[in-house]
Amino acid sequence: MRALRTLVTGDRFAAGQVWWPAEHGSRWRTVGFGAEGGRPAATIVEAATAAGGPRRHEGWWLIPVADEGVLGLGGGPDVSGSFLLGVAEVVTATAQGGRLRRSLEEKETQRSRLLQALLTAQEEERGRIARDLHDQIGQSLTAMLLGLDRQLERSAPAADGARDELRRLRSLTAVTLADVRRIALDLRPSVLDELGLAAALRRFARELHERYGIAVTVLVEVPERLPAQVETVLYRVAQEALTNVVRHARAAEASIVVTVAGGFVQLVVEDGGVGFDPTALAPAERIGLIGMRERLELLGGGLRLESAPGSGCSVHGRLPLP
Ligand SMILES: Nc1ncnc2c1ncn2[C@@H]1O[C@H](COP(=O)(O)OP(=O)(O)OP(=O)(O)O)[C@@H](O)[C@H]1O
Ligand SMILES: [Mg+2]
Repeated sequence: MRALRTLVTGDRFAAGQVWWPAEHGSRWRTVGFGAEGGRPAATIVEAATAAGGPRRHEGWWLIPVADEGVLGLGGGPDVSGSFLLGVAEVVTATAQGGRLRRSLEEKETQRSRLLQALLTAQEEERGRIARDLHDQIGQSLTAMLLGLDRQLERSAPAADGARDELRRLRSLTAVTLADVRRIALDLRPSVLDELGLAAALRRFARELHERYGIAVTVLVEVPERLPAQVETVLYRVAQEALTNVVRHARAAEASIVVTVAGGFVQLVVEDGGVGFDPTALAPAERIGLIGMRERLELLGGGLRLESAPGSGCSVHGRLPLP
């Protein structure tokens, strides 16, 4: 209640007090400055709210303010009604502003927690599905492939029709196995958990080269394994940035660099493609970019994007190390 303190310490009034209806239990919550003695009793305050305008009571001015509150100013000079109404307006605006800010802060904290829980759950779910795909369906398909190979070896060379059918089934199984492995890799590469960020990024870069012919150089200079959450976020940011390179940049080459300095780990994904103007995008057109920033900010880091039409794009992600 800075406005109230200013009024009291500015020597205009000896004491100031604000009453708000309390949410639970007692009828009023109060804050005050100056002389405590002789402050108006709750019943008088209630009478003042009912009055609807400034009211004089034993050396106090009682003025109704925001949301059924009452401002009391004691021991002051005789002031005009319009002065008191002006004061009431300031107090009302300050109280409402403060409440709005607190409620926004609370909502922001809740949103962050929810998002963090959602992302963690999503990673766990992806990991589980990837493992199931890889271990169970992958194993079964491998067994089928081997069985079909054996059948092909055993079957009589004369039975041409049957051999063709076996060959067709074999190649279908091989394609399905490759698809399952690729989907599992996209979902969550087990190499990220087992061998860490550097290995996972190299694996992803190789995959992009095989699939899209784009040459991605990977340089990871980190002393050892980073915390699991940090590795996951950096991997996801690099994955989104490189997917953008493939989809939008029309570049033949790209690079990923991860370094550690001054308690931070830094990720830079760069391409020399067509580039774009980041300020020209509406929020709905940059969900991928927003997602990268959110993931980094949730762990106390941030994202910087540098791009312009014709001059490629670089994505700089930064995370503090615990
Ligand atoms: N490396 C890049 N080179 C050129 N343009 C890019 C690059 N990265 C992003 N963009 C531009 O920024 C836009 C927003 O990217 P963002 O990742 O947010 O969305 P998106 O890739 O279009 O869709 P998604 O939500 O599936 O990621 C893209 O549509 C593209 O126009
Ligand atoms: Mg994208």
